[in-house]
Amino acid sequence: MPRESAAEPAEPTASAVRPESALPPGRPADRLLAELRDLRAADAPTRGGRTFAYVYDAGLPGVDELTGAAYDVFATVNALDPTVFPSVARLENDVVGAVSAILGVPGAQGSFTSGGTESILLAVKTARDHARTVRGVTRPQLVLPSTAHAAFHKAAHYLGLETVVVPVDPLTFRADAPAVANAVTERTALVVASAPSYAHGVLDPVAEIAAAAAARGVLCHVDACVGGWFLPFLARAGLPVEPFGLSVPGVTSISVDLHKYGYAHKGASVVLYRDAELRRHQYFAYADWPGYPVVNPTAQGTKSGGLLAQAWAVLHHLGHDGYTALARRVALAADQLLPALRAMDGVRVLGDPAGSLIAFTVCGPAGTPDLGLVLRTADEMRERGWYLQPQLSCDGLPPNLHLTLTPATSDRVEPLLADLAESLVAARVCEPLTVDPAAAGAAAALDPDTLTPKDVASLLAFAGLDREQGLPARMAPVLALLDALPSRLKERMLTEFVGSLFRV
Ligand SMILES: Cc1ncc(COP(=O)(O)O)c(C=O)c1O
Repeated sequence: MPRESAAEPAEPTASAVRPESALPPGRPADRLLAELRDLRAADAPTRGGRTFAYVYDAGLPGVDELTGAAYDVFATVNALDPTVFPSVARLENDVVGAVSAILGVPGAQGSFTSGGTESILLAVKTARDHARTVRGVTRPQLVLPSTAHAAFHKAAHYLGLETVVVPVDPLTFRADAPAVANAVTERTALVVASAPSYAHGVLDPVAEIAAAAAARGVLCHVDACVGGWFLPFLARAGLPVEPFGLSVPGVTSISVDLHKYGYAHKGASVVLYRDAELRRHQYFAYADWPGYPVVNPTAQGTKSGGLLAQAWAVLHHLGHDGYTALARRVALAADQLLPALRAMDGVRVLGDPAGSLIAFTVCGPAGTPDLGLVLRTADEMRERGWYLQPQLSCDGLPPNLHLTLTPATSDRVEPLLADLAESLVAARVCEPLTVDPAAAGAAAALDPDTLTPKDVASLLAFAGLDREQGLPARMAPVLALLDALPSRLKERMLTEFVGSLFRV
């Protein structure tokens, strides 16, 4: 019934939304933009070559301006429907076609996605559905080297596959191809290789792994999220690069991130399949509801055309010569950095990096990796304005510091090495990092599944992770304790901690 009189406003109920209390009055655009800029003051710098994870800086003027402007042109386009916005199909065919021309085979088909994780999720879904339809596999397995990106575990978790993790060679950090081959069963839906792995930056033996998968009639995905738009240009610059694309017999899909060495803004990747028949398993279509018939090639429904447009623009702006020159600059940085690191007292570079990612550990007096020195070095570097990413020990693989090299690093190798030398000295004179074995033992005995949020909050506070206090300036003690805990407990604690950061 319509209300008869508007004179008496209705009493607010518990569920009534009162916008004036939820949202302050409107403010001018320039003030808001200034506020956004100020918010970034405490963030790691995304440009300037001092942040060695998460960001990819071409170090060229104009690239960010172009990607930003190209995004704006397509920001309002809904890439959900290429029949209403045909420009989307035109741009996507162009971008996927460029990736296919370099890493594909005739007939290869793919999709533009929001990033490596989405490309991997889709490749795993495709393999699961292909295995079910073509081979009748009802309890699918995903065979992967221990260094494969965590996104594969996420995909298996979301999509109901069982993971079969195969240890890598402890000296080269490359996947052990015969061991991977041995892990393949009738239930295997997909085998994975990395080009290169994120953690150590080494290239897996793609040809051997793909051949073993093909021999069993199983699909093989190459995760070239990092290397896919870097290694081909390194090869073009004249450096030796082992083949890893779809032209390698047995490789059936590949992921290539354009928001990494493609230098597009975040939200740009391509997943490419051997043929359209395989890619069909990636698509989701639904017509049995009263709304518009849905066909979603990727995980998202509505999505801005802006991300695709900016990726297209940067690809065509840099072109193959631009990417080759940038790959050369990264190689130059690696050529300066690697011998200097290897010559540093107590520093051990892990494996033989394929070109752009480097991991090194720091050894104590006994010549073995020393977690405390690794973590203290990261803290010392941070104080000097460099972010090197700490990676904890895992299944016998040593703790280390990870560096993603970008062209912006190439002019900064000397100051980086000077600060690293100082940091190593400072780390060695710090008090040794020790985790109370009794505390670590007691924590390790806890069952992460039965801990209450309050238990976890106390553990986090004990570890030094407390939202109210903010993150400690020096993370070494926190990370040392985490390193001592079983993975499941670490996961539970970090989930609660990150959840606490997003609490309103
Ligand atoms: C080898 C590799 N695969 C997959 C991913 C996941 O990509 P994203 O973070 O874009 O989702 C990454 C990210 O670093 C990666 O290095």
